[in-house]
Amino acid sequence: MRSQTDGAGGLKHLISLDGLTRESITSILDRAESYRRFPGQPAYEGRELAAVTLANLFFEPSTRTRASFDLASRRLGAHVLNLEMQSSSRVKGETMLDTIYTLEAMNTDIFVIRDSEAGTPEFLIDHVAPHVSVISAGEAHVSHPTQGLLDVLTIRAHRRRFAGLKVAIVGDIKHSRVARSTARALRTLGTSDVRLVAPESLLPAEDEFQGALRFTRIEDGIDGADVVMMLRIQKERMAQAASLDDAAYFRTFGLDARRLKLAQPDVLVMHPGPMNRGVEISSDVADGPHSVIREQVNNGVAVRMAVLAAIAATLTRHRRPL
Ligand code: NCD
Repeated sequence: MRSQTDGAGGLKHLISLDGLTRESITSILDRAESYRRFPGQPAYEGRELAAVTLANLFFEPSTRTRASFDLASRRLGAHVLNLEMQSSSRVKGETMLDTIYTLEAMNTDIFVIRDSEAGTPEFLIDHVAPHVSVISAGEAHVSHPTQGLLDVLTIRAHRRRFAGLKVAIVGDIKHSRVARSTARALRTLGTSDVRLVAPESLLPAEDEFQGALRFTRIEDGIDGADVVMMLRIQKERMAQAASLDDAAYFRTFGLDARRLKLAQPDVLVMHPGPMNRGVEISSDVADGPHSVIREQVNNGVAVRMAVLAAIAATLTRHRRPL
């Protein structure tokens, strides 16, 4: 694991939640709360990223994550480049590093990267200039640190504690970077009862998610849960996705109002999006009174602002003098 902090302990890169202490996660969440504005309120406008240039490099599709990095950085005063990576030079044969060096030459300070290959964010950290930061916006099935942070911010806003909570993560955990990052953040903050609920074929390897309980029946896994987090089946990461039957999956693993009654009466229902209604979750539950799915989206902007502000503060210490 590459160090994500500089010599003075400031956040320099964010590609994983491994190695972040409870204190550092808590300080990001506190800062995010100060930036958070609810729909209808005027958005926070600040200058924390003034004279900072950020490039969004998304080699995989994204709606929420990309839009929220874009808004978060603009609301803090950054210059933002949103490159069309599907049609970009990488397709024309330019290596990713040449793209990075080209954008560095245009004074890009922060690269936000999403890629389907594991290891890309670390590779970039090893190759960018010393004054440049890398943030992962999703690395293969491995990690999605800002999603993990926004998930725990959402839980904290409703529960104010992590110890003693029962959190069930349901669905395609094997291929989910969200599950890995959120489970890691929960463990660091003190939640020991994390349940992985999936058909046998979608559970992760035994040596992953240390300490998590495993269930192959949704009824057992969500029983008494304080939080139920639903995941999409990530067919794009499977070799034999075509054989999966959506209707059969909903019958055995879908979250509907009847099953939700097994959880705590005040259960929070979460989903990182994009949702497949009628496959992993019914519409009435997705839009129902327990759902905090749109709050997750709102918190996503605030968390990304907090991460960017922390990184920008570190960056200013590494700038070359005029
Ligand atoms: C997730 C992702 O890309 O990992 N989406 C997101 O960032 N909100 C989950 C998914 O694609 O299913």
